[in-house]
Amino acid sequence: MSIRGFGIYIHWPYCLSKCPYCDFFSRIGKNVDQEKIINDYLDELRFYHNLTSGRTVTSIFFGGGTPSLIKPSLISKVIDTVAALWPTAPDIEISLEANPNTDTPTLFPDLKKASINRLSLGVQALNDADLKFLGRTHTLSQALKSIDNVLNTFENHSMDLIYARPGQKLPAWQDELKQTASFGFKHLSLYQLTIEEGTFFAKKGIRPLDDEPAVEMYNLTVDYLRQCGYPRYEVSNFAPPAGQCRHNLLYWQGDDYLGIGPAAHGRISIPEHFYATTHRCQLTPLTSQERAEELLFMGLRLDNGIDKPLFEQNCGLNFDNFINRTAAAEFEKMGLLINSGQNLRLTAAGFPVMNKIIEELL
Ligand SMILES: C[S@@+](CC[C@H](N)C(=O)[O-])C[C@H]1O[C@@H](n2cnc3c(N)ncnc32)[C@H](O)[C@@H]1O
Ligand code: SF4
Repeated sequence: MSIRGFGIYIHWPYCLSKCPYCDFFSRIGKNVDQEKIINDYLDELRFYHNLTSGRTVTSIFFGGGTPSLIKPSLISKVIDTVAALWPTAPDIEISLEANPNTDTPTLFPDLKKASINRLSLGVQALNDADLKFLGRTHTLSQALKSIDNVLNTFENHSMDLIYARPGQKLPAWQDELKQTASFGFKHLSLYQLTIEEGTFFAKKGIRPLDDEPAVEMYNLTVDYLRQCGYPRYEVSNFAPPAGQCRHNLLYWQGDDYLGIGPAAHGRISIPEHFYATTHRCQLTPLTSQERAEELLFMGLRLDNGIDKPLFEQNCGLNFDNFINRTAAAEFEKMGLLINSGQNLRLTAAGFPVMNKIIEELL
């Protein structure tokens, strides 16, 4: 029997400044009582341990916000507590998101000493004008220095960029892609800019790129990165199998994970029951229907799509009975879906219209 993944997400909700496009739960916080916050997190871990003892932790992910602001000694404290409470996999993946504006000569070596073994760097753009537009407080030269530092310190690493910026042209994006692929990261996360309600960009009336140029940029991204050895494995994530982010795969494959910290959510299955968890250890039972819907949303994001037996194991419903089979057959005829005995997955033509397909399948 294969061991299912079990991950722990730790959310750090503070940043040095608020980026105008960001709707993640984060606020500006420079002098917060880190010790106290982390001690509260340790209490949350102990609470969840009672419900999940005996599980083997396969990944820990420090996300944010800007978790590279947490003192490395406190990162160590979290990791040590996890290891004292649960068995951990020998090849456990421990990731942390870092911003170039928090880089110092000691940051990455200290994080490595604290047992972080995968570093994800939020670069976002590879020119100063666009970094400024995105409200980032680092320059291109700082980003390049941080890229070097990450690559020289860690063996496993990833870099984030945001594209489809207003006014961005295809050749300019192709240049950034070329530079990005040349750095040698194990993994790349490339997101199309979305304008989220309530953000500064939304209030200013900034509009995203039109669908047609955005799809053109997406297709270029997928094709170009494949040629460079970074096949797409999820809508916005690119890596060969060995470089894939095992923690994020937990979400897309419907495995269990704990969410620690404000606005962090988790999913726990306790034989026959599924729970959504939210901050301060609140557990809400999920019906099989609710669980099935989220498995469909998450699973179709993967290139490998949805594994039907796993789906059934994760929600108790038969996949073929759950979806609208007439709609699925129609999409298959249109060349947007592949529906085999074992899997349901999108084709290359299906990815850009994923949301529409999901709507019709439900
Ligand atoms: C949790 S966020 C932020 C991590 C880190 N604080 C940073 O800013 O680099 C993870 C990633 O989501 C992406 N992201 C956030 N908001 C976005 C938006 N509105 N549109 C597209 N990508 C976005 C960025 O690439 C970011 O690196
Ligand atoms: S994008 Fe990152 S650095 Fe900017 S506000 Fe959001 S979480 Fe903070």
